[in-house]
Amino acid sequence: MKYWNQRFAQEGPMGTVSLKGADARMYWSQAGWIYEAVRSYLPKTCSLAYEIGCGAGRMVPYIMRHAQRYFGVDVVPGLVDLARLSFEAMTVDFHTYSKNKGLPSFQRVGLVWFSTVMQHITCNGDLRAVLVAMRQMAEPECILVGYEALTDWENKTHIKFRSLEEVRGLLTETGWNLVAHKECPVDNGHVAFKATVL
Ligand SMILES: C[S@@+](CC[C@H](N)C(=O)[O-])C[C@H]1O[C@@H](n2cnc3c(N)ncnc32)[C@H](O)[C@@H]1O
Repeated sequence: MKYWNQRFAQEGPMGTVSLKGADARMYWSQAGWIYEAVRSYLPKTCSLAYEIGCGAGRMVPYIMRHAQRYFGVDVVPGLVDLARLSFEAMTVDFHTYSKNKGLPSFQRVGLVWFSTVMQHITCNGDLRAVLVAMRQMAEPECILVGYEALTDWENKTHIKFRSLEEVRGLLTETGWNLVAHKECPVDNGHVAFKATVL
């Protein structure tokens, strides 16, 4: 469970994943903080929201307040299975994403969502390629939101971003325009931000 705090999640046989105990409840409750941090950046509604690195799907109920359909991808199959078990609505869909194959493609994505994920992709994947792919799927009014750590505060996630300026530069190079950001005092070291299509 490389990308998750070991206190929250455990890996079982055959790659199954379960969340455990009081820490897991805390983890789910953090979803509310994240939502509050980005809430003012979100569209009232859009036809399709696309979450990169959806994990077990804790953000789905919040994202669905702003989208008619939801699509989430993650690199860990056990987490995608867990998310599928939790959400059965026809308008919610999850896929395991293989970094070699690229992201499943849609036309006219209205909301792109990253929460505590870019920080991992900077180390294990190609965030530039992901941002370019999402830019190609974006409808003209698309909004990209992020809630990301800029400091390697647990000294184990190998976050490569050191400043918001690095994030801004990468977004600009890939066709996104960083239009707003704020620090998140409730989760020290995290920044919430909004980008629109350049
Ligand atoms: C800290 S969890 C956050 C999950 C979810 N975004 C949330 O806020 O609840 C980080 C997630 O990023 C996923 N992840 C790590 N590297 C990834 C990559 N290259 N592409 C997509 N997802 C990735 C992990 O499997 C994990 O589910």
